[in-house]
Amino acid sequence: MPKASLTQAAAALARRLDRLARVSEERGVTTRTFMSPAMRRANALVGRFMKAAGLSVRVDPVGNLIGRTRAPARGAKTLLMGSHLDTVRDAGRFDGALGVLLPIAALEVARGRGIVLPFAVEVLGFSEEEGVRFSSGYLGSKGYAGRLGKLDLRLRDSRGITVREVLAKSNRGRFSPPAPAHSRGELIGYLEVHIEQGPVLEALGLAAGVVSAIAGQTRARVAFLGKAGHAGTTPMALRRDALAGAAEFILAAEALARARPPLVTTVGRIEARPGTANVIAGAAELSLDVRHPVDAQRLAACAGLRKAGRLIAVRRDLGFSMEVTQDNGAVSCSRELSSILAGIVRRHEGRCVALASGAGHDGVIISSLAPVAMLFVRCRGGLSHSPGESVSRGDLKAALRIVVDFLARLASRHAK
Ligand code: GLV
Ligand code: MN
Ligand code: MN
Repeated sequence: MPKASLTQAAAALARRLDRLARVSEERGVTTRTFMSPAMRRANALVGRFMKAAGLSVRVDPVGNLIGRTRAPARGAKTLLMGSHLDTVRDAGRFDGALGVLLPIAALEVARGRGIVLPFAVEVLGFSEEEGVRFSSGYLGSKGYAGRLGKLDLRLRDSRGITVREVLAKSNRGRFSPPAPAHSRGELIGYLEVHIEQGPVLEALGLAAGVVSAIAGQTRARVAFLGKAGHAGTTPMALRRDALAGAAEFILAAEALARARPPLVTTVGRIEARPGTANVIAGAAELSLDVRHPVDAQRLAACAGLRKAGRLIAVRRDLGFSMEVTQDNGAVSCSRELSSILAGIVRRHEGRCVALASGAGHDGVIISSLAPVAMLFVRCRGGLSHSPGESVSRGDLKAALRIVVDFLARLASRHAK
């Protein structure tokens, strides 16, 4: 493939992203959750793209799609590049998918340019990052990194099915948590390309930037328990309304975060039971997501919210519980890999900004296995977790060029 074909490669990448977005478990929108038939179809489609790029392809017991170039020599190291193939409900085309499909395109361009890599490359399509089905994310990367623990396996989805049961079924009854896919010494590092999911690059007029660190994140299932009763006959003073308690908790979480930037708290899901207009809610369950770049601040916020929930419950004569389903500390990106990436971004964009990521990424988990670097790509309006996600063709090309150059730089560093 001649050099001029970067434009064609970006166009082909855009077409692949469009095709992948049509693989969904919900008609008319993009939704792919852990171990769903849609995820199997996504793995099959992206597996075909990988094979076309000359990679050997397998799916591991946790549903991760793994494409690998042939190692040039025995004992050669491996570079990991990837992101997740699952999505939120009614998702955009780029969150996760870009970080899997762009490396495949970059390898195709690099090969077309005659760039010889003295290391193997593994392109990873993780099976679960968003935490949609089990209220806890990173199941795919945890499986790959050998970090899938008992607590993860015990998580239940809304129908009461556990992660362990799902994995046992997909592995014909024989599932045990995998060991790490690699030892740290075998790996050069992990590069994740991702849309910024925020507005900074757009405001600065830059196509790409380099991530300095990824914020820590706690997720919890919060429940209030009251007493169901008749909406017309139960006097207000005698009610134990679980939903009203939950509403107070949501406002307390919002107020806390507003008072302590850059703390962010989100209640994105609430379920009231029995969930009928003329019945006082006897139970309410909600999701809680708490993030801060400083771990101590995040943990203090969680403790504060637990206390606030207890006080609301006491005042309203309700039961209260808060079960943490995910707890990840902040992760710093590798200085060495990030500075290589930043040098390339600077060369193409004129300058390079370091961005802290408020969103979670698979790199958080892979950091236990390898040094991590992340390239953020500008997205229109900073919009993400929405079908409105958009990256221009020009920015796809810019990101592709940066990753091809990154491969070339690593190739010259690791050449014997
Ligand atoms: C993943 O997208 C997250 O940050 O929640
Ligand atoms: Mn993502
Ligand atoms: Mn996401």
